[in-house]
Parts: sequence; structure tokens; C-alpha cells
Amino acid sequence: MAVTLTIDRQTVTVPEGTTVLDAARQAGVVIPTLCHFPGLSSPGSCRVCLVDIQGARTLQPACVTKVAPEMVVRTTSKAAREARRLSVELLLANHPWDCNACTRNGSCELQALAQEMGITEVRFPYQREPVPVDTSTPALVRDMNKCVLCRRCVAVCQEVQGVGSLAPRARGFDTVIGAGVGEELAEAVCVQCGQCAAVCPVGAIYEKDAVEDVWAALDDPKKHVIVQTAPAIRAALGECFGCAPGTLVTGKMVTALRRLGFQKVFDTNFTADLTIIEEGTELLGRLQRAIVDKDPEVRLPMFTSCSPGWINYMEQFYPQLLPNLSTCKSPQQMFGALAKTYYAQKAGIDPASVVVVSVMPCTAKKFECERDEMKASGFKDVDYVLTTRELGDLIKEAGIDFMSLPDGEQDVPMGMSTGAADIFANTGGVMEAALRTVYELVTGRPLPMDQLHVKPIQGLQGLKEAAVTFSGCVSEWSFLEGVTARVAVAHGLSNAHRICQEVAEGKAEYHFIEVMCCPGGCIGGGGQPRPTTDAVRRQRIGAIYAEDEGRPMRKSHDNPAIAAIYAEFLGKPNGHKAHELLHTHYHDRKTKA
Ligand code: FES
Repeated sequence: MAVTLTIDRQTVTVPEGTTVLDAARQAGVVIPTLCHFPGLSSPGSCRVCLVDIQGARTLQPACVTKVAPEMVVRTTSKAAREARRLSVELLLANHPWDCNACTRNGSCELQALAQEMGITEVRFPYQREPVPVDTSTPALVRDMNKCVLCRRCVAVCQEVQGVGSLAPRARGFDTVIGAGVGEELAEAVCVQCGQCAAVCPVGAIYEKDAVEDVWAALDDPKKHVIVQTAPAIRAALGECFGCAPGTLVTGKMVTALRRLGFQKVFDTNFTADLTIIEEGTELLGRLQRAIVDKDPEVRLPMFTSCSPGWINYMEQFYPQLLPNLSTCKSPQQMFGALAKTYYAQKAGIDPASVVVVSVMPCTAKKFECERDEMKASGFKDVDYVLTTRELGDLIKEAGIDFMSLPDGEQDVPMGMSTGAADIFANTGGVMEAALRTVYELVTGRPLPMDQLHVKPIQGLQGLKEAAVTFSGCVSEWSFLEGVTARVAVAHGLSNAHRICQEVAEGKAEYHFIEVMCCPGGCIGGGGQPRPTTDAVRRQRIGAIYAEDEGRPMRKSHDNPAIAAIYAEFLGKPNGHKAHELLHTHYHDRKTKA
């Protein structure tokens, strides 16, 4: 039912159940907010959005107050203005005034509110006891001295990710946001996804900065520093320079990286294509064992393994399903292992001098590259991981006028890729890329270019599924003739939990399941420019599909650089060398849970 009300003398009609905040936005009225974040439940705690509602005894928070028929709202009354200002002043009184030295200087929502409200001094004394900054994990830093208790991090960790690592402790003035039962995040059950850092309005949670390490490597003349960029970066980096979400900046990104001094600018897309060959071969092998050999040991459905937050989740919440996980490393780690073997050998460079820098949308990648399993090259395969935000900072610090840069192209061979690799960036993309290749391998027939998209697994619905029936097979995989492959896609760990539960209970009849830790997949990663809302996710996904559709090659097995690496170096897919460098195993870490 529609509700008609008045906001600042404007008549607005909205659906029943709409909040005053959303109704106001629809009418073009901006009410300031802090604890509220689109897509998360609002605790209504910060009181920054107070408005005057005619007939109400007190001012009401617009973010949690529902509209009512004939309601009359004033957002600019003296009482509302003064109350909102007082709310911000009280937050500032409890917040360190070291903005110039804060990672969020210039992007802090509290700073922006103070500026908008013209607050230049705070009338109340600072009384907070300092607490140590938590730097215990390789991915995230928590500085609770700066926490404004908005609880966005708690909501995203519990509601969206279903992890529940963060929760308020104590009450009233003593309230703090704690991680697990210990003092440090490293002791808690945490998947390092960084969704908390993505929604934090201030500098209380952020990624562990690798910018100085990367500068040091670039400054070292004895080092050969190369960079890989994940598929999702190109659709979001522009936001660091004022572009609208979903602006593709692939060519400018390449030029900027070259100007920063990277000796080769490669592309994680190359190893995304390689992942499709390795993972697709692994899946077909498992299907053969199940269908032809009737091997009772084979584990299906097989889960994708390219999202390190998802791997952390599996290890900590569903270790019994680890045998279902593909043994393929993530494209980031495949790249690192090959950079210090294949590339170093081909280029005649001492692998000990090669420094691999990754630009990733994801904070969990920082954790992943530190894992003991990730040293297949004989060195640490990936040395440093920068998030998209950190790359933006690096480019700004270097004084590069990003928007005026000409387009550049990635280096070969490890910069060559297809549209199938691009779509690794979004939910459903790995599955679609895999199906493009598996269909052709199994049937032995080319898939028409206008039939590459698998619509049922596109979009932001939390759980998606599709089915493909193989027919007319003329390949070594013709045992799949007439078989209908059932696939599923989940993104965001609360959705992953639902599908894991089904698999654990033996109720899931799928063959292959893609899981991405972050909502929307990598385009919504914890290291992407802020804010990431569903509207932003859709725009970035649109850009990624546009990149895919503009490519001359759109199937991983068509990439000639992939054929070359097997011919020159790896041997055959899933072969001995491929296993040594590109595959791994993960471990039960549930004991922490
Ligand atoms: Fe409404 Fe915080 S934004 S109470």
C-alpha cells in the first residue's frame, strides 16, 4: 500500500514500510547519516539523522522511523539541526583529532559530517582511554580508538557474511566492538574478507597497508618488480579518481603501473584462464571417476577455490567439505608460482630477484599470500598485495594525473587473456567461464558466441542455479552424453552457509558449485573503493560484462598464451608439473571456531 506524507513541504508517496530516510531521499532531501548503511540493518544509534515529526514528543531517527499517512516531517527545523549537530559533536568528543595522520583523511564520513555542519571546535573534553591498535593479522588493522560504535562492521560480519566475528562488548560508555573472545583479531574466527573495512565510516578498520613495501621494492635496482591486476580492479579503480562506478579504466591502469616503475604489467586474467583449464579438467576427472569408474571415494559436488575468504570460511566452518574443494590455487597464487618459474626462466632472470606485486579487490589475498602452502616456486610466490584503494593511493602519491593517461596494454605472455577471465570478477562469472570451456571440451563443438552467457547464474540473487545437458558429444569425455550437469552459485558467506549445509546433509544434487566470499563477487571485495552498495555492484558488473563482450577471445581455452605455457613448460592440464605449481590442499582450522 502506498503512503503519502510531507517532507520539508514536499508531498511524497512511497510504499508502506519505507523509512523516513528513504522517503526523503526519494524527494531529493538529504538527511545526514552515520550508523546507517544501505543493505544493512540500522541500529539507529548515532542520532545523526534526527528529524522533526509533527505530533511526536521527541525528535526521531529517520533511518529507522517508518513513514505513516499524512506524516509531516521537517528535517531543517532548529531543533533537528541542533540535535544532529550535538550528536556529531558528541562523537567527535570521543574521537582522536589526528585526522591529518589518519588513513581515512579525506574519505572519513565523520570528518565529512563535521565539515558539512561547520563544526570547528568541540565543547566536550576527550575522555577515552587509549587502547592498543590490533595489527595481529596480515590483512586487517583494527584501531578501536577511532571506533564510533556505528556497528556497521558487526552487521556486515553477522548478517551478510554469517561469520559473527565482531560483536559489541560491555555496555554504555564502556561499549567496545570486540573480535571473538580474545583481544586480537588473529585469535578470532575471521575470514579476513575485509567487508568490515569496506563499511567502516572512519579509520577504525582498514587493510594492512603494503604501499611502503612496494615503494621499497620499486626503489631497489637489484629487484625485477612485476605486477598482476585482478579482473575486478579495472571496473573500480576509476572511482578513486572521481569516475562513476562501473567506469572501465583498464588501459589507464596499465599506463599508471608502468609509470610507477613496474618492469612488467601482467594480468591475473592470464591465470584465471589457466584456472578454467585446470579446474575444468579436475571437474571432468571427478565426473569420470564417479560415472565411469563408480569410485565411491570421489567427492562431488566440487567447489571452486579462487576466493581466499571462502577458503578461510571452509577451513573454519566446514572442514568436512574440504575434499569437495577444487585443489586449484587461486589465480593470484598460480600467477605468483609461474612468475618465479616459467616467466623468470623464459626471461632469463634470477627468480630470487623477482618481486611479484598483486593488485586485488580483496583483503583476504593479503592473508593468502602469506600461507605456508604458497611457496611452490621455492620462494614466496606473491610478495605483496595491494588493494584497489591502495593502488589508488600509490598513483596519487606518485603525482600521476590518472584521468589524462593514455591507454596502455598488458605485457605478454602473462598479460594475455580472454573475456572468460574478465568475468571472474563477478558472482557467477567463474561458473560461466567454466561452462564455456567444459561445454566445448565435452561436446567437441564450438559454443556460438551469442550463447556464451548463462543468464540464470547472473545477477545479485544470493543463490542461483543452472543446468546444462550434454548431447552429440564427440570427445574423450563422451561418457557425459545425455548427462545434465547441475551447477550452483553463491556469493556472500551467509549464502555459502546455506549451500554448504545442503551439501553436508547430502541434500544438494549439484555437480559444481561456485562460491565467492564477498557479496557480488570480487567486484564487491573488501578492498574496493568505498562505498560498495548493491547499486555500485550492479554498475561494476555491467562494466565487466562489457569488457568481456568487447573481447576478440571469450573462452579460456582459446587463449594462445595458455596453449603455449602447457606446450613449453607445464605439460598437460592436471599433469605432474601443473600439480606441483598450481594445486594445493587446505586444512581443518575449525579448532579455533
Ligand atoms: Fe540514523 Fe545513525 S544514521 S541513527
